[in-house]
Amino acid sequence: MEGDPLKLHDRVAIITGGAQGIGRAIGLLLAQNGADIVIADKNDQQAEETVQEISLLGRKSLAVKVDVSNFSEAEKLGKTVFDAFGRIDILVNNAGITRDGLFLRMKEEEWDEVIAINLKSVFNCSKGVIRYLGKQRGGKIISVASVVGQMGNIGQANYAASKAGIIGFTKTLAREFASRRIMVNAVAPGFIETDMTRTLPEKVREEFISNIPLGRMGTPEEIAEAVLFLASDASNYITGQVINVNGGLYM
Ligand SMILES: NC(=O)c1ccc[n+]([C@@H]2O[C@H](COP(=O)([O-])OP(=O)(O)OC[C@H]3O[C@@H](n4cnc5c(N)ncnc54)[C@H](O)[C@@H]3O)[C@@H](O)[C@H]2O)c1
Repeated sequence: MEGDPLKLHDRVAIITGGAQGIGRAIGLLLAQNGADIVIADKNDQQAEETVQEISLLGRKSLAVKVDVSNFSEAEKLGKTVFDAFGRIDILVNNAGITRDGLFLRMKEEEWDEVIAINLKSVFNCSKGVIRYLGKQRGGKIISVASVVGQMGNIGQANYAASKAGIIGFTKTLAREFASRRIMVNAVAPGFIETDMTRTLPEKVREEFISNIPLGRMGTPEEIAEAVLFLASDASNYITGQVINVNGGLYM
């Protein structure tokens, strides 16, 4: 699949949280397949580095500093991108954080922050782009959920709720916008090698891996492949779905 330059030829994709990790891998793969890329991240320094890498692939790329949990900032993103590129075809809602803790110890701020950055952001950014996708009579919204939103996970009540919320949101938007040929889907990664998981103690990692039928963690590039499929015309009859990329952890 990788490297077919016509797959997303001249489409414009926005990737939230695209400065590093899974979002960065998505940006690079979509660019290799012909898309111009906007990296929307609060970490503008890291975003600039990723934009440089994407530019080396011969595609246009722009970093936009945004806190996706802030409604007015995130909603403005659509206009900023439209003014710069003249179109928007793909939104990838990828920005996310964890603030783990057992429920009895979880603080209200930890709940609020995770819901705002992981879930409200998806509402905010989708609001910002939907009118442009609608005018073009077509487009793709792809959100990064998690296996944890499907299975639950001890210590992640806030995170699991935010990711399950993304799945409900995805199915609803898919129904509301199908007539305008806007396809809305999610990818649910399992346990992926990024900064988010690198800090886990070795024992916890081993325990997680022992439950994965394929016996290993996934890579950001393996998530990017599923996003590329959902962003391309190869998936034009698919909407309201969750693609699980989890090594068989949840079936
Ligand atoms: N790593 C995993 O195992 C795993 C598993 C399932 C789902 N996911 C999901 O994949 C997505 C990407 O995760 P990752 O592992 O690459 O994480 P990461 O921490 O490496 O990257 C997250 C990115 O989001 C950005 N970000 C955070 N808060 C933001 C905000 N308020 N506004 C704008 N940008 C913000 C960060 O600056 C960073 O660039 C997340 O939604 C995460 O929940 C990850």
